[in-house]
Amino acid sequence: MNLDKSLIDAFSLSTQRAAYGASLFKGKNDKISADQAAVDEMRNSLNKINMKGRIVIGEGELDKAPMLYVGEKLGTLTGDELDIAVDPLEGTNFTAKNLPNALSVIAVTKKGNLLHAPETYMEKIAVGSDYPPKIIDLDFSLKKNIESVADFKKVTPDKIVVCTLKRPRHDKIVNTLNDMGVKINFISDGDVSGVISVADPNSKIDMFIGTGGGPEGVLAAAALSCLNCQMQTRLVYQDEDEKLRAKKIGIKDLNRKYNIDEMIKDDVIFCATGVTDGDIVSGIRDKGDSFESETFVLHKSSKINKKVVSRVKK
Ligand code: FBP
Repeated sequence: MNLDKSLIDAFSLSTQRAAYGASLFKGKNDKISADQAAVDEMRNSLNKINMKGRIVIGEGELDKAPMLYVGEKLGTLTGDELDIAVDPLEGTNFTAKNLPNALSVIAVTKKGNLLHAPETYMEKIAVGSDYPPKIIDLDFSLKKNIESVADFKKVTPDKIVVCTLKRPRHDKIVNTLNDMGVKINFISDGDVSGVISVADPNSKIDMFIGTGGGPEGVLAAAALSCLNCQMQTRLVYQDEDEKLRAKKIGIKDLNRKYNIDEMIKDDVIFCATGVTDGDIVSGIRDKGDSFESETFVLHKSSKINKKVVSRVKK
């Protein structure tokens, strides 16, 4: 069942407002206040939408997060039943330090069509839209994944560019890529835009690989699902408590591999507004009694894929 196109502007406004809220804390070295401002603005905005909305990926569980917690009901409680994944501020560090690529992100489906990912880590691999199905797989060796992509592009592996988060947990991946002569584009944070970079030919990034946040993985999958890209993921647990939490939200096979259509099962709307300037969109501009923002808007069924600059009253 497709989502009503008229919802797009309303959800886009929610990321615009959240990005504006966070932007007030740009460079103030205060991640918590930036995140809270984004959450407050987004929640306020979502509550005005005619929907029976439910947060399935949010800012944590009720006891840890006063707003936009998993299970929270939102909207005017009339209209369609919708499942919503939010990251009101993706890149808290970027905002606190006024660095590029902080975003406010949302993905929306009809009820039941979004993977409920717990707040654990997630292994991710993604490539763009030009490849034959199943060209990558988390169960293949990294060498095989790189060689398959290189073979399809008719280039040698040293011409392939891979994006990954700079983390010690990726040392083995980095060593393999170095041995193969693959170029690495390290990011310090923000793997939603890292994953989405595979869809952008201007980025020159052929593949995203590595482990980052599970919620961020589902949000990135929502974007790639609209852009016909390939992505595979698997949840990673650090302790028994995380496994228990995954079971509690209905994950039966803890080691399951998810293809993109198992994370995003049907139509989806994706919106990402820039807080600071970034690779995907520009950041918030203060215009006195209003603010200007840029939002990357995707809607799978209507094939909407656009960047929208908006002026909104503060
Ligand atoms: P926050 O904005 O919540 O700080 O997340 C930023 C981020 O870099 C995500 O993009 C990524 O998925 C995750 O953190 C990686 O986690 P970690 O910093 O623990 O490696």
